[in-house]
Amino acid sequence: MRSVTVALPGRAYQVDVGSGALAGVGEGLDRLGSGRRVALVTDAAIARSFGATVAGAVAATGRTVELLPVPSGEASKSLRELERLYLEFARLRLDRGSAVLALGGGVVGDLAGFAAATYLRGIDLVQLPTTLLAQVDASVGGKTAIDLPVGKNLVGAFHQPRWVVADVATLATLPPRELRAGLAEVIKYGVIADAALFALLEREQARILAGEPEALAEIVFQSCRIKADVVTQDEREGGLRAILNYGHTVGHGVEAAAGYTGLLHGECVAIGMTAAAAIAVRTGLLAQAEADRQRRLLQLYGLPIAIPAELDGEAILAAMRLDKKTRDDEIHFVLPRRIGAVEIGCRIPGELLADVLEELRAP
Ligand SMILES: NC(=O)c1ccc[n+]([C@@H]2O[C@H](COP(=O)([O-])OP(=O)(O)OC[C@H]3O[C@@H](n4cnc5c(N)ncnc54)[C@H](O)[C@@H]3O)[C@@H](O)[C@H]2O)c1
Ligand SMILES: [Zn+2]
Repeated sequence: MRSVTVALPGRAYQVDVGSGALAGVGEGLDRLGSGRRVALVTDAAIARSFGATVAGAVAATGRTVELLPVPSGEASKSLRELERLYLEFARLRLDRGSAVLALGGGVVGDLAGFAAATYLRGIDLVQLPTTLLAQVDASVGGKTAIDLPVGKNLVGAFHQPRWVVADVATLATLPPRELRAGLAEVIKYGVIADAALFALLEREQARILAGEPEALAEIVFQSCRIKADVVTQDEREGGLRAILNYGHTVGHGVEAAAGYTGLLHGECVAIGMTAAAAIAVRTGLLAQAEADRQRRLLQLYGLPIAIPAELDGEAILAAMRLDKKTRDDEIHFVLPRRIGAVEIGCRIPGELLADVLEELRAP
């Protein structure tokens, strides 16, 4: 087992990464001093498998634990599911000493996280991520949110977990496409902060895609280390944390224009990173060879690098302007200088952006 500490003053927590780590959740709650009542919010698709494992581990410590499954899919990040959770928490008589465990992908993490952030003005949250995306991104850093019909993540809160357990054994049942989508975020960490991680991804593609636990544990650990480092320096996105948005400016535009259906988030990020690198080459910030290296790595992991032909640039641009991260109608980019280093707050003229989007459109 390897651990990363998110060293936030007064609310530091550990991210434990390892195969089989979920079996230790009960003892972990003892160490945290958690109360007797535990709500285990989980993705309905994994309630019977990992849900049972975690419930057993928690019950073995003498705690009362109840499984609260939510339907799989983004639609569960809703006011309706949130209200249902609050009512369940009340029925279970959770108190200020109780813990909410979020076992699942980013959907469960964000929903259960927001419920824990707000119920009784905030109770303990333990993240037990079961997708690669959630292990390397959503479970660490304290952002929680639900969606509204008019947009994603519009209602949320910062609520740091007390503990994160990334059990890479859970990734064995993850659909390969979901695994690859999570790898887009891992590649992102390599580009923004760690050339050695990028090189590791180049070298170890076969073992990673085959789902070898050791290889997965290594990339999850390295990713969490980078995210923890960034979040510790900038918890609420006032500065450095913006580097985590690399690939997400165009990525979110593509995601919104595609109606959050056809493409997975990580796939949109892959397209967004390709766009950011192309912009960086055009503005003279990045060497073409480095952009090519990123494109090759994305392709090596079966990720898309072209904008689907049916999406038009205008729709993507309009969606980017609506994004809550764009201020005063000006679109700011995180652009790579080389593999392992980026610059934030780059202003890009609309024409250049439109050109690049057109260039990246699949024929
Ligand atoms: N809070 C943050 O900082 C943050 C960061 C990134 C993304 N997010 C959010 O995360 C969500 C996306 O997360 P995601 O990609 O994990 O999606 P997800 O939670 O929808 O999971 C993807 C799919 O995998 C299934 N699944 C989960 N674990 C499984 C397992 N071990 N085996 C088999 N199937 C499994 C789920 O049922 C689902 O169908 C989005 O809502 C996004 O907004 C939040
Ligand atoms: Zn992302």
